[in-house]
Amino acid sequence: MENIVFTTDVDKTLAGLLQDVGQERLFVVADKNTVVFCDKLLENVDWTPLNMAVVDCGEEHKSLESVAGIWSLLSRRGARRSSVLLCVGGGTVTDMGGFAAATFKRGMRCINIPTTLLAQVDASVGGKTGFNFRGLKNEIGVFAEPEQVIISPRFLSSLPREQFLSGLAEMLKHGLLSDEEHLERVMAHVNGPVESADFLRLVRDSVSVKERIVRQDPREKGARKALNFGHTIGHAIESLSLSSDCPLLHGEAVALGIRAELYLSVRKKGFPSSCYGRIRDFVCQYYPVRSFESQVDALLELMMHDKKNEQAGINFTLLEEVGKFSINNYCTPEEIKEALLGN
Ligand SMILES: NC(=O)c1ccc[n+]([C@@H]2O[C@H](COP(=O)([O-])OP(=O)(O)OC[C@H]3O[C@@H](n4cnc5c(N)ncnc54)[C@H](O)[C@@H]3O)[C@@H](O)[C@H]2O)c1
Ligand SMILES: [Zn+2]
Repeated sequence: MENIVFTTDVDKTLAGLLQDVGQERLFVVADKNTVVFCDKLLENVDWTPLNMAVVDCGEEHKSLESVAGIWSLLSRRGARRSSVLLCVGGGTVTDMGGFAAATFKRGMRCINIPTTLLAQVDASVGGKTGFNFRGLKNEIGVFAEPEQVIISPRFLSSLPREQFLSGLAEMLKHGLLSDEEHLERVMAHVNGPVESADFLRLVRDSVSVKERIVRQDPREKGARKALNFGHTIGHAIESLSLSSDCPLLHGEAVALGIRAELYLSVRKKGFPSSCYGRIRDFVCQYYPVRSFESQVDALLELMMHDKKNEQAGINFTLLEEVGKFSINNYCTPEEIKEALLGN
C-alpha cells in the first residue's frame, strides 16, 4: 500500500507530491462532472488549464476516441516521460488516464485521485487500465500501476446514492473475501456518513483486501481470480441490463451476482447458509433486485461466451466460508439457473 495515501487533506498531499513538477510537466484528465474538483485541488500547485483534458462522462465514452484525446493533448503540449498525468475521476477516468499514461512515450508518470467510491476501493488500485472497444468491455488495456493514488472522503458527499451503493457492493465482496468483522462493518455503513474518519478507515481496510490479493498474483493467473467473486453472473446481468430500459450500474449488477454466487457457494462448497441469508436480505433491501425468469437463457448464453469458460461448465470463484475462497469451480447451466431463480 506504499503508493496509496488515505487523507482528509488531499490538496496538501497533492501539492507536496507535485512541488517539483512545474506547470509545463503537469497534465490533468477529468470528466465533465469531476472537472469541478480541479480548481480547489490544484489551488496550491503550479499548473495551467491548457494542460487539461476533459472527457465525456460514462461508460460509453470509455473509448479509443477519448484516449486519443488525452494522447493528443500530451503530444501537442510536449509531455515527456518525466511528466505527470493526474487522473481525477471515477473508474472510467482512472482506467483511461492510466492507459494513456502507460502508453504515451512507453510510459509517463501517473497519479490517480479517484472520486467515486468504486474507483477508490477498486478501479484506481491494482494496476488494470484500459478502455472498451467494438462493444467489448475493457477489450484493450495494460497492467500499469500508478505511481501514487490519493484517496479522500472529500469527493464522496456529492456522489448520488446509487453510485455510493455501487461502490459498496465491491466492498461487500472484499468483506466476504476477508473476515466476518470487516463484512459486518461494510453492511453497518450502508447509510454512511461518508465523510467520517471511521468510513475512511473502512475504505482503507477494503483497499488493503484487494491489495493483498493483487500482490500475490498481479497478472491474474491464480489468486487474483478471487476478486472475480460475484462477477461471472454479475457481468452477464450488467451486459444484459445495458441493452434494456433500466441499465444497472456495475456494482448494482455485482451485488446481484454476489447473491447468486453465494447461493452456489452454499450448494457446492458448504458456505454457511445463515451468512448467505444475511447477505441475500441485505442485497434485497438495498439493490434493484429483479426476476430473471425470462432472462435466464440469455444470461447463460452471455456467460458461455465469456472466454474464461470451457466445456466443463462455467468457471466460478466460490466461497467455503467468509475469508476462504476457492477458484476454478465449474458449475452446470442447471446449477446456475437454480441460483438465479431459486434464491
Ligand atoms: N481497473 C480496475 O481494476 C477496475 C475495477 C473496477 C471497475 N473498473 C472500471 O471502472 C469503471 C466504473 O467506475 P465508476 O463506477 O467510478 O464510474 P464512472 O467513472 O463512470 O463515474 C460514475 C459517474 O459519477 C460521476 N462522478 C465521479 N465522481 C463524482 C463525485 N465525486 N460526485 C458526483 N459525481 C461523480 C462521473 O462523472 C460519472 O458520471 C468501469 O469502466 C469499470 O470497468 C475498473
Ligand atoms: Zn467489479
